[in-house]
Amino acid sequence: MAASPMLNASPLLQLLRSVCVLLLAASATVAGRHHSAPAASRNGQSMYLAPNCRAHTASLADFGGVGDGTTSNTAAFRSAVDHLSQYSGEGGGGAMLYVPAGKWLTGPFNLTSHFTLFLHSDAVILGSQDISEWPIIDPLPSYGRGRDKIGGRYASLIGGSNLTDVAITGNNGTIDGQGALWWSKFHSNKLKYTRGYLIEVLWSDTVFISNLTLLNSPAWNIHPVYSSNIVVQGVTILAPTHSPNTDGINPDSCSHVRIEDCYIVSGDDCVAIKSGWDEYGIAYGMPSQHIVVRRLTCVSPTSAVIALGSEMSGGIRDVRAEDIAAVNSESGVRIKTAVGRGAYVRDVFVRRMTLQTMKWVFWMTGNYKSHPDDKFDPSAVPVVEGISYQDVVATGVYKAAARLEGIQGAPFRGICLANVTAELDKSRKYPWTCTDVEGVSANVTPAPCEALQGAPHDGDGACPFPTDTLPIDQLTLQQCAYDVPSSPGGGGGSTYKQQQLLTDSSLI
Ligand SMILES: *[C@@H]1O[C@H](CO)[C@@H](O)[C@H](O)[C@H]1NC(C)=O
Ligand SMILES: *[C@@H]1O[C@H](CO)[C@@H](O)[C@H](O)[C@H]1NC(C)=O
Ligand SMILES: *[C@@H]1O[C@H](CO)[C@@H](O)[C@H](O)[C@H]1NC(C)=O
Ligand SMILES: *[C@@H]1O[C@H](CO)[C@@H](O)[C@H](O)[C@H]1NC(C)=O
Ligand SMILES: *[C@@H]1O[C@H](CO)[C@@H](O)[C@H](O)[C@H]1NC(C)=O
Repeated sequence: MAASPMLNASPLLQLLRSVCVLLLAASATVAGRHHSAPAASRNGQSMYLAPNCRAHTASLADFGGVGDGTTSNTAAFRSAVDHLSQYSGEGGGGAMLYVPAGKWLTGPFNLTSHFTLFLHSDAVILGSQDISEWPIIDPLPSYGRGRDKIGGRYASLIGGSNLTDVAITGNNGTIDGQGALWWSKFHSNKLKYTRGYLIEVLWSDTVFISNLTLLNSPAWNIHPVYSSNIVVQGVTILAPTHSPNTDGINPDSCSHVRIEDCYIVSGDDCVAIKSGWDEYGIAYGMPSQHIVVRRLTCVSPTSAVIALGSEMSGGIRDVRAEDIAAVNSESGVRIKTAVGRGAYVRDVFVRRMTLQTMKWVFWMTGNYKSHPDDKFDPSAVPVVEGISYQDVVATGVYKAAARLEGIQGAPFRGICLANVTAELDKSRKYPWTCTDVEGVSANVTPAPCEALQGAPHDGDGACPFPTDTLPIDQLTLQQCAYDVPSSPGGGGGSTYKQQQLLTDSSLI
């Protein structure tokens, strides 16, 4: 089923790989030519993994950055990226901005292409508490307005549009949105615009986000939109479990996404796959597809482990989730839609999910009534079909095994459940609530509602799960080496940029 995009993606991946080999070769030559000092006398080489390595490195401190937690570094970040964007063109070799240990307060800034933002393990990027530092940007075309408010929205702390080949990584450095200010203004309805996110990229290709800790986002944490080839790996996301809309990772109208080995505690969905809102999403028409989520650990007492929707008006298809663990969530992999959304949610495959303490193991909602305005089309009825769950163990279910509510006249079809155990409070008389749904099941305890009692088409009593490999799983990572920007006299280096690095003394 998901085979055709592979034909398109693999030449791209091959190209990326060969570019990378060239870059590695180029940077090795540069290092060989310029670094006369023996390796041991340098401040040290560090390694990281990314799709592509960079030929140039500069430290935020070179651009007037002050890591004291109170000085604004907005200008420093913006001028660093601006300066390094000279290497983002054809043959420029790309650049890395190194964020040293320290607390770097900043307002929003944008990234550039062929660029790595690297955070030292003790680097903390802090979101500015001065709202005037947050620019107002246009709403997303597929939403027609901001998510919280009509009209524009605050920029995201780290943003970018129309980028190619970006990495945001580090030795588990921290990006702290200091969102409490925004949460309280949101609750007291004092914001004129929609809150910003921690990281948002639009219309971008090949974005790699790894080995970071994200704290206290004003709202969503990671929001790739209209983008492809996105990997989020080894990221810890923490927000208070009652903070408003602090979703973890929200791919929105994105193709070829891989989310793995992430640990998320949040006040909303840990992962939410979206594709635009009602008539705006239908008009934009860009689905989210070919998405894999694996080895996710989630704590989300008021929301889903993985939500599909509620904004899904460009369509959602081919989502694969495996080895999912949650402790304390409202529901597992949830579908949220409504009349007016149009489009579809189809070909969703879940296997090996362990849930401890939750309201509902399975929850689907066909009347999720939140609309951008009253211009939505009441004849735009979404199609939900082909949703499989296999090998699910749930303990401490305190409401019901399932609450499945399709749309009258447009039932959710092709639901398959196999090898599912839900251990729930014995006093629960109706473990299953099903309306307007159709499907099959095998080895489900407690016995499911009648609408799901037929046997799976597969003779073994299994639900389908694709056997092909998604192109995004073939994206290979390189071992990249960089010289930690060193102290004066500490190392070699004769290019302009390397000279500049020698002036950074904050790393001694
Ligand atoms: C970042 O890019 C967006 C979209 O291109 C733009 O609206 C915004 O002004 C930029 N922000 C900054 C700080 O340059
Ligand atoms: C980015 O790409 C989108 C979609 O192709 C295009 O509409 C937009 O004008 C581009 N923005 C910039 C700043 O190039
Ligand atoms: C992630 O950060 C840790 C902690 O500093 C480091 O040991 C590890 O090598 C990093 N992993 C990758 C894949 O870069
Ligand atoms: C990264 O830091 C977070 C928060 O301190 C921690 O919980 C997590 O285990 C760390 N991850 C790695 C890979 O070191
Ligand atoms: C049923 O699911 C459990 C838990 O994931 C797993 O250990 C077991 O092997 C599965 N049984 C079958 C027959 O696949």
